[in-house]
Amino acid sequence: MKIFSILLLLLTTSLFADALTGKKIFQTYCWGCHHQTAMAFGPPFNQIAAKRTKVEIKAYIVSPKSMYKAFGYKRTVMTQLHLNTKELNLISDYILSYRGKK
Ligand code: HEC
Repeated sequence: MKIFSILLLLLTTSLFADALTGKKIFQTYCWGCHHQTAMAFGPPFNQIAAKRTKVEIKAYIVSPKSMYKAFGYKRTVMTQLHLNTKELNLISDYILSYRGKK
């Protein structure tokens, strides 16, 4: 019985983990301010992807307050989000998938 619950737990957690995608993270945390290819409150993902590396994108999400000057902004109004490493990788890859898209 105990083994069964553990298996069930492993199965459901891996199902949820698989369901987590860059697009979902975008819709949950970023969509209010960023769109994929259109200017919104923040810059569109295709523009970000054209000029930033994955490391830079992750650094900005982790701490806009310590990165905005290096990125050429006079101030930052982007929300401080708390994404884990997996979420950071997924959302950065999602942004970079818009490189070259119009
Ligand atoms: C409250 C609105 C808001 C939310 C929510 C938000 N952003 Fe931003 N973001 C901005 C604005 C505005 C800028 C422009 C610079 C600034 O104000 O920090 C920006 C800048 C950025 C930059 C740097 C752009 C450049 O010049 O390369 C990245 C990368 C970024 N956002 C990613 C994200 C991601 C990914 C999410 C979701 C996980 C997110 N942002 C959520 C408003 C937001």
